[in-house]
Amino acid sequence: MSLKRTLGTCYYPEHWPEEIWAEDARRMADLGLTWVRIGEFAWSRLEPAPGDLRFDWLDRAIDVLTGAGLKVVLGTPTATPPRWMLDKHPDMLAVDALGNPRKFGSRRHYCFSHSGYRDEAVRITRLLAERFGTRIAAWQTDNEYGCHDSVMSYSQAARDAFCAYLKRRYGTIEALNTAWGNVFWSMEYDRFDQIDLPNLTVTEPNPSHALEFRRFSSDQVARFNAAQVDAIRAFSDAPISHNYMGRELAFDHFATGRQMEIATWDSYPLGFLEDRLEASAAHKARYARQGDPDFQAFHHDLYRAVGRRPAEAASDGLGRWWVMEQQPGPVNWAPHNPAPLPGMVRFWTWEAFAHGADCVAYFRWRQAPFAQEQYHAGLLRPDSVAAEAFAEAAQVASELKEMPDVEQAQAPVALIFDYASSWAWTVQPQGAGCDYFRLVFDMYRGLRKLGLSVDILPPHCGTLDGYKLVLIPGVITLSEPLKQAIAASDAQILLGPRTNAKSDALHIPVPLPPNIPGLDVTISRIETLRPDMPVAVQQGGAVQLWREQIETTAQVLESDVTGAPIAAQNGTLSYLAGWPDEALLARLLDRAARQAGLNPQTLPPDIRIRDTGKTRFIFNHGPEAVEFEGNTIPPAGLTWD
Ligand code: GAL
Repeated sequence: MSLKRTLGTCYYPEHWPEEIWAEDARRMADLGLTWVRIGEFAWSRLEPAPGDLRFDWLDRAIDVLTGAGLKVVLGTPTATPPRWMLDKHPDMLAVDALGNPRKFGSRRHYCFSHSGYRDEAVRITRLLAERFGTRIAAWQTDNEYGCHDSVMSYSQAARDAFCAYLKRRYGTIEALNTAWGNVFWSMEYDRFDQIDLPNLTVTEPNPSHALEFRRFSSDQVARFNAAQVDAIRAFSDAPISHNYMGRELAFDHFATGRQMEIATWDSYPLGFLEDRLEASAAHKARYARQGDPDFQAFHHDLYRAVGRRPAEAASDGLGRWWVMEQQPGPVNWAPHNPAPLPGMVRFWTWEAFAHGADCVAYFRWRQAPFAQEQYHAGLLRPDSVAAEAFAEAAQVASELKEMPDVEQAQAPVALIFDYASSWAWTVQPQGAGCDYFRLVFDMYRGLRKLGLSVDILPPHCGTLDGYKLVLIPGVITLSEPLKQAIAASDAQILLGPRTNAKSDALHIPVPLPPNIPGLDVTISRIETLRPDMPVAVQQGGAVQLWREQIETTAQVLESDVTGAPIAAQNGTLSYLAGWPDEALLARLLDRAARQAGLNPQTLPPDIRIRDTGKTRFIFNHGPEAVEFEGNTIPPAGLTWD
């Protein structure tokens, strides 16, 4: 399927005098933008007092923007409930793990479990859908669920809803006591209403309890979103989206993704490198102006999967996704906020298109001279003069006219990604640094360094058809559909470490893990390792952080220096019994890719490749030019053929 790739921006008409809206709209259209997102923080101007609706200005703003030929994405304003909402619902605030209410004065202060606030959110959404539903081209629900650590709330509303959730899930208190193993430390309950939220316990809470609270909190996000989606659908056929984040794992994005037509995400490569990645100081310094070579691509591939709706998957197998907010220059919120290298904004835009984005929208149109984000760049400076990114957006807009078809195709390699596993790893990490995302991201990076393009798949996917190599690291509990897909697949499948390690309630199952039919591997013990005690592997490299002792009759692929097996293989199934360092991972993935009939190549460190249906994109993420396959690729440069 071929789509026309488009550009957009995020605009806040309520921040600027009405007299300049028309000029702004004209400049957006002249720049070659198609989309403009508005409205997502405007509640205090849409309803300055309860019931006092002032939609007339938004009407005029939409008129001006659509009049200039732009398509409008309207955001529901529910991430920023106005101050009067607190007077109406004093107990709507989210409460942090220390029991402190999160105060008014920034954003995302609501608790997902507060039914009074949820009703307010549905009410304003319905009113907007009724009024604007046929005039706008797409919707965004709320803004960045999870931002500022806002998924889990320890409020009374959350506790009440949690007790009700547990009752629905377990039926009887005996069933819950058994499932959680509450006999341990005399934690048994007599009634559901005795169960508290798992914060402020003397030492760690029961991991089953903690995991269940994370599942519940994720469900509350999905319920909140579904209520808005329903309110919109009653009045509007326009597609609905939500803008997700980088490395945000507190709720299951596949669950919300199923409710909507489009997944979008907010890509801030330089901010993420600084505050969301474990990497050496040298790595952070090298990529400070370009961003990590794999972090954006990982999320592009992830959100392509989140945007994939089951009904559509049957027809084209590919999800609809956008970058809703693209960093255009320095941001304001990371520990350090450097400017990108010249050319980087164009580069990031093309990288997103190469991974299948329908649209890349720049955040924001004009830099705000007031409030929290004053030093966050826009396409325009506060004085309306074009900022550095403006010319780069213009370049992409003109390149798009000539652009080869960015046709997407199924990748040869699949990587399973599971939000619930990240919760389980967080609840029971067993060692500092043992983090699910980090493990999966290491694997993803390892694949990309071999020049391979990757599809990310959800943990409940029922088929692996068409893939030659499948990686399933750290998925704590394999779903039944995935077990069946593994059994039916003829791909090379690499599992572990910590794959199928726990039951649904987070117990160690018997027979002992990983218990995969056809793979004779039994984990007899696990240990975690200090950063300064990696375990060397015979052919080079090491395991680090997490290490499993296995009993196996399978063919041993890798052993430590004492001869203990580290990786073993039965037919197409392989198991990796530890967290590999870079050298071990490179060898393992290279071997697996060759066994799968792929042609892995060791790329220069800054080069990454993305193969689409017909086009091969080659990106140089480094600050210097690189010679690659007869081309000189400039810093922040790319080629395609
Ligand atoms: C995003 C958010 C925007 C803006 C931006 C600044 O996380 O959705 O509203 O705050 O960050 O980089």
